[in-house]
Amino acid sequence: MYQLNYHSQSISGLSPKDLENILEEATSINGERNITGCLIYHNDSFVQILEGEKKDVLEVYKKIKGDKRHHNIMLLYQNSVDTRSFTDWNMAYHKPEDQFVVQFVNNLLLLSKLSDNSSNSLTTFWGQVRRIIESGSVKQQAIL
Ligand SMILES: Cc1cc2nc3c(=O)[nH]c(=O)nc-3n(C[C@H](O)[C@H](O)[C@H](O)COP(=O)(O)O)c2cc1C
Repeated sequence: MYQLNYHSQSISGLSPKDLENILEEATSINGERNITGCLIYHNDSFVQILEGEKKDVLEVYKKIKGDKRHHNIMLLYQNSVDTRSFTDWNMAYHKPEDQFVVQFVNNLLLLSKLSDNSSNSLTTFWGQVRRIIESGSVKQQAIL
């Protein structure tokens, strides 16, 4: 099992329709490839985790890197892992509105610029996001 995280900036003026299209493509293609993960969109930034067979994850990431709807794509972390963090979602979508999560995402983005992104901080981050999504305490959409 392989896990990959990146951060990117959306093009300015990304519309809700654009986001909907991205999520539709992601959910359908990831479903075919048995890729799971989560996409966070906040302050014109995307943070995404992809997990699945290494070959599939790398192929999808290659397509994502060439996508004109975002730029400044920065790989945060990629590695083999024993288990998935997002077993139930082909692409969970999370728009942080809860102040705590907003702070958390901001910290992650800051961390990604400053440090060498230890796997620990990312694992903690995505574990937290998963718990928030599962608890349903903030507005979220699991699968379109
Ligand atoms: C932020 C962002 C996240 C994306 N996430 C995925 C994803 O998880 N899986 C996926 O297949 N495509 C994802 N896409 C869309 C791909 O870039 C690409 O458009 C899609 O895979 C269709 O590619 P194809 O027409 O070459 O098959 C994402 C695009 C963006 C901008």
